[in-house]
Amino acid sequence: MTRVDIKPLFLWMLCLHAFCGTFATTDLPTSRTTVAKKTDFNDIESKFALRTPEEVDEDTCFLVPGQENTISQCNFNHTSKTFVVIHGWTVTGMYESWVPKLVAALYKREPDSNVVVVDWLARSQQHYPVSAEYTKLVGQDVASFIDWMDEKFSYPVDKIHILGYSLGAHAAGVAGSLTNKKVNRITGLDPAGPTFEYAENDVTLSPDDAEFVDVLHTYTRGSPDRSIGIQKPVGHVDIYPNGGSFQPGCNIGEAFRLIAEKGFSDIDQLVKCSHERSIHLFIDSLLYEEKPNMAYRCNSKEAFEKGLCLSCRKNRCNTLGYKVNKVRGKRSSRMFLKTRAQMPFKVFHYQFKVHFFGKKNLTVTNQPLTISLYGTRGESENIPITMPEISTNKTFSFLLYTETDIGDLLMVKLKWEKDSYFSLSSWFISYSYDIQRIRVKSGEFQKKLVFCSKDGNHVSLARGNSPVVFVKCNQHSIMKKKKKV
Ligand SMILES: *[C@@H]1O[C@H](CO)[C@@H](O)[C@H](O)[C@H]1NC(C)=O
Ligand SMILES: *[C@@H]1O[C@H](CO)[C@@H](O)[C@H](O)[C@H]1NC(C)=O
Ligand SMILES: *[C@@H]1O[C@H](CO)[C@@H](O)[C@H](O)[C@H]1NC(C)=O
Repeated sequence: MTRVDIKPLFLWMLCLHAFCGTFATTDLPTSRTTVAKKTDFNDIESKFALRTPEEVDEDTCFLVPGQENTISQCNFNHTSKTFVVIHGWTVTGMYESWVPKLVAALYKREPDSNVVVVDWLARSQQHYPVSAEYTKLVGQDVASFIDWMDEKFSYPVDKIHILGYSLGAHAAGVAGSLTNKKVNRITGLDPAGPTFEYAENDVTLSPDDAEFVDVLHTYTRGSPDRSIGIQKPVGHVDIYPNGGSFQPGCNIGEAFRLIAEKGFSDIDQLVKCSHERSIHLFIDSLLYEEKPNMAYRCNSKEAFEKGLCLSCRKNRCNTLGYKVNKVRGKRSSRMFLKTRAQMPFKVFHYQFKVHFFGKKNLTVTNQPLTISLYGTRGESENIPITMPEISTNKTFSFLLYTETDIGDLLMVKLKWEKDSYFSLSSWFISYSYDIQRIRVKSGEFQKKLVFCSKDGNHVSLARGNSPVVFVKCNQHSIMKKKKKV
């Protein structure tokens, strides 16, 4: 068995979960120093490796600002677009395993592009607050590099897309604010939170740093000064997958499964699982073009959970990742979506709206329902959901999602499961509601449908009973209803 040094890992966890927040406040005086442009190339410490599709994990050729010959030596393609990848804080002083994965995915999608990896490993290996300070210098370095490409080779800056992860996102922001001309796009992949949540725009990623700034927030758990990922929106489009605080598949149970499967050395992946998910979501968008993840604008996580925000009108929805629709609103918009725990991450979102009729007043909380969807292309059975509340003669709305593309929805089955604990009262009280119709709105297909019972009448949804079936309301049953009234 290989010995693994887990000390750096613990430092990582400690810093991110406890110390960084406190350092943040003591570090403020230096954080206020404004960032200036560099005038010569001598003090550029960052290195710019032009990787190749053949060697995605090796820095074999460096583009050196001030040394024109390096551009041709590295076979830089002047007519293609350029991706500039900026890594984040590291405990090991080495590139993390996502770097070659992202480089490979970029080349797979854009084979003629130039993928440049910025090496600031020495500065990123310091105490977190020190490395956080260094993002300004790294940003200056990157800006000098871009200005040099523009001035010396007339390389069009609107072909430059910077991707920065964690601290690298803020370095990208600084770079973008310093270049002579605005770069085309900056993608912030879970920009670091500690020391940046309350910092000024010129040291953090912000919408003015590029023509378009899109941001994925994947690990924003805890109070703002403790959160590993920045919580506030910092781009034109800010997407919070799964609410943004934590990602599916990143819990402890999953940790043990992974350790069993892949061995101990991958445990650091796990600590950073939700943080790093931002990168894998972007990679997903490069590799699975045919399975785009849709995100929906919403004022709150809670409203999204109720399924209230699945509209695409007036740019309310957008595509996560590479093919994002470059919408620049007056204020940044928060967008939400659910995902799977693995790549491809895509799911299909539905809003369900149900009115629960009853003769008696009855209110129940935290009730387990299972819902099955049947469509033209497939089916998705027994999707569990918990209804926070159901009460008589009220309408409730909730979000349902499934990884299966079921096509056009044809039939819905609803089952009210028994409570997990035994309750005596359930012997005496009949827990049931009548349902007349179910309104379903699909996010991905942007369709609204109404479902009725087969004969168009009310059906009774009773706890513990067999599922009730709803089909698309046809003209016949709607006519029947009208005659009755
Ligand atoms: C440079 O990229 C363009 C597309 O942008 C491509 O047509 C051309 O073949 C590439 N040149 C080289 C030398 O790879
Ligand atoms: C709920 O509304 C129906 C009519 O829509 C009515 O008959 C019934 O009595 C109401 N139930 C309660 C508990 O008020
Ligand atoms: C049910 O509750 C509502 C308001 O709480 C009340 O107006 C209504 O009369 C009640 N209906 C029955 C049948 O008790």
